[in-house]
Amino acid sequence: MPLVNVDVLLKKAEAEGYAVGAFNCNNMEIVQAIVAAAEAEKAPVIIQASQGAIKYAGLNYIVKLVEVAADSVSIPVALHLDHGTSFEQVLKCMRFGFSSVMIDGSKLPLDENIAITKKVIEIARPLGISVEAELGKIGGTEDDIIVSEKEAMFTDPQEAKTFVEATGVGSLAIAIGTAHGQYKGKPELDFERLKKIKELVKIPIVLHGSSGVPDEDIQKAIQLGVRKVNIDTNIREAFMKGVKDALAQKPNEIDPRKVLGPAREEMTAIVREKIRLFGSSGKA
Ligand code: G3H
Ligand code: 13P
Ligand code: ZN
Repeated sequence: MPLVNVDVLLKKAEAEGYAVGAFNCNNMEIVQAIVAAAEAEKAPVIIQASQGAIKYAGLNYIVKLVEVAADSVSIPVALHLDHGTSFEQVLKCMRFGFSSVMIDGSKLPLDENIAITKKVIEIARPLGISVEAELGKIGGTEDDIIVSEKEAMFTDPQEAKTFVEATGVGSLAIAIGTAHGQYKGKPELDFERLKKIKELVKIPIVLHGSSGVPDEDIQKAIQLGVRKVNIDTNIREAFMKGVKDALAQKPNEIDPRKVLGPAREEMTAIVREKIRLFGSSGKA
């Protein structure tokens, strides 16, 4: 199937009350694991690539790998740019065939974030490409930040309303206490804030930094309106577990397939688990 627009996937998710998994890829085995899992679960899926992934694998490689993957399955697959930080990067991805982009202006002042998001939408919309924006700072896993400092980075619900009305963006990534990477402590999500945002903002909400968030918190966030859940770190962990286990069994292995094959299986298993958790199983 040709690559699909993320807004279309999230609209169905909104109507039926589930979330679509958005999984980060960096190489062929990861792409294969994601589509194999989604196909087995009969679930729509978003494969996303960060600027770091593009730098590592090459833009054309990412697009071609995901196109081949999408062609080989019967479920809808979207290719999304994760955390695009410049207009140039976003344009390049559109030109190379991404079906969706994120313009992350979260580090900019509000008016500049609005301006760059609008500029991207002006180009993307006529091309049928969906756009995600970010408001609030999701950050890393620095657990030495005190609570009041953390809350200052969280998305302000009124500001979210202003932002969405001013830009007309398709989906919005928010900061409510999740962080990218492995958590050092237990993440504390601000569900009240999510509720307020959802009351004021009528578009699908995106949860970043979702690896390591307890299952019940993910489910609660979905009940409150999260429609796209981003997972990267859990895939990295599964990949490396597969590699380490294979090497532990045969330290002198010289065939990369004997190491990467088990890694791919580990990743498929975790992606299937997440798809079931998000409620998107059987929704293709
Ligand atoms: O949002 C961050 C993703 O986990 C991508 O991370 O920039 O190291 O590829 P990366
Ligand atoms: P995790 O690595 O914490 O799963 O975050 C992924 C993410 O938000 C990608 O944008
Ligand atoms: Zn993210």
